[in-house]
Amino acid sequence: MTSTHAFWLAGRQESGTETFEVHHPWDGSLVGTVSVPTEAQVEAAVAAAVAVQDEFAATPAYVRAAALDHVAKRLAERSEELARLITAENGKPIKWARGEIGRAASVFRWAAEEARRFNSGEGQRLDTDAGGTGRLAVTRRFTRGAVLGIAPFNFPLNLVAHKVAPAIAVGAPIILKPAPATPLSALALGEILAETDLPAGSWSVLPVANDRMPALVQDPRLPVISFTGSDRVGYQIMDSVPRKHVTLELGGNAAAVVLADWSSEADLDWAASRIATFANYQGGQSCISVQRVIADASVYDRLVAKVVAKVGEQVTGDPSDDAVDVGPLVNEDAAKRVESWVDEAVAAGAVLHAGGKRDGASYAPTVLADVPAGVTLATEEVFGPVLTLARAEDTTAAFALVNDSKFGLQAGVFTHDVQSAFRAHRELEVGGVIIGDAPSYRADQMPYGGVKDSGTGREGVAFAMADYTYERVMVLTGLAL
Ligand code: SIN
Repeated sequence: MTSTHAFWLAGRQESGTETFEVHHPWDGSLVGTVSVPTEAQVEAAVAAAVAVQDEFAATPAYVRAAALDHVAKRLAERSEELARLITAENGKPIKWARGEIGRAASVFRWAAEEARRFNSGEGQRLDTDAGGTGRLAVTRRFTRGAVLGIAPFNFPLNLVAHKVAPAIAVGAPIILKPAPATPLSALALGEILAETDLPAGSWSVLPVANDRMPALVQDPRLPVISFTGSDRVGYQIMDSVPRKHVTLELGGNAAAVVLADWSSEADLDWAASRIATFANYQGGQSCISVQRVIADASVYDRLVAKVVAKVGEQVTGDPSDDAVDVGPLVNEDAAKRVESWVDEAVAAGAVLHAGGKRDGASYAPTVLADVPAGVTLATEEVFGPVLTLARAEDTTAAFALVNDSKFGLQAGVFTHDVQSAFRAHRELEVGGVIIGDAPSYRADQMPYGGVKDSGTGREGVAFAMADYTYERVMVLTGLAL
């Protein structure tokens, strides 16, 4: 028997009149029942955010930093319990869930450090022209207003952290809408936030259904929207509020490129191992999981044999088992969609090297080669444990294949050659290039985000803080400079 989880309205726990259930993707068991805010409660949360925004923006840096440090410390203290919660609501293997807690603690720790550094101001002398004699420009950043953070299911805590921590760091109130499939981690974060001295109204966690999102998106009192999710929904949001400041962290079909110089046995073993791991981690449900492997023709056959072998070593099963690498997808519908895309590719002539089987919400780690250009798997984000293999004649052809995508989030390039590394950095149309590793590497302080249909704006603590604020210049006159 599980209790009903209240939500967080302006820092206090409240309950609404309706509830919904969260089920474990592995065995369908009930993980929790969640109370849903009424319209009036959503209104109260937004009104409280607006009421507190001047006070919050003026909060001294040490107060915001102390709150953020507290959250980092408590996440670390509660890490095992919270990791098990992530696994239960999301189906993510426990080893990856533990990693997510460590990352979320690091996001809050970074935000505390950034809060202390933030906004000391920059001076610029203006007496470079006669008209500016005795004048100095001082530029500081000010919040745009309250933030609406809309989080996805695939990192139920860390992608919430990436929205909440920067908002606290700059003193912008935030209304957080967690994903309906995985609200419990965000609600648990609320327990920790409630232990801090942050002013009432500075944060709320509202588990409203997706069909109530448009009203929040349209609300003019929430001028900043930070959304992580699908490209379809992301661009719907952006198109519906063209005058708001919208950050979109959307999908990808990340490529791992193996160039000709990455050719020793040890090189190919490392590439194969990283590709196999990061095509399948959390069931491939990461925007930067490896979907496409593009290898130089001179190493292709050896790499394929190693990738297939390494994928075969991935341990599948109950995500609460420490030994398991790949658990279920978030629900059976997701696994059925992946199955249909793979089936479509195979029917169109793709060669199946591994996997291709579904069992309930689980889909076997799958490797395909020679995927025809027109099929869904070749153009869309699979968000499942599936990778495709392609051969390229040379570096030019490999990079052209990477760029032949509507997405542009991250790419990994296995090369030892510094010239090729800089060429990749210059030519690949993505938000991040990882040299010598899979595209799935992310350190949480790095700028993270995409180009093309992968979105706009950047997360990574300091970058989100910049997004939540704008520069305002003050010109001082009559100075002896
Ligand atoms: C994402 O799926 O976009 C987030 C990936 C990550 O934070 O590692």
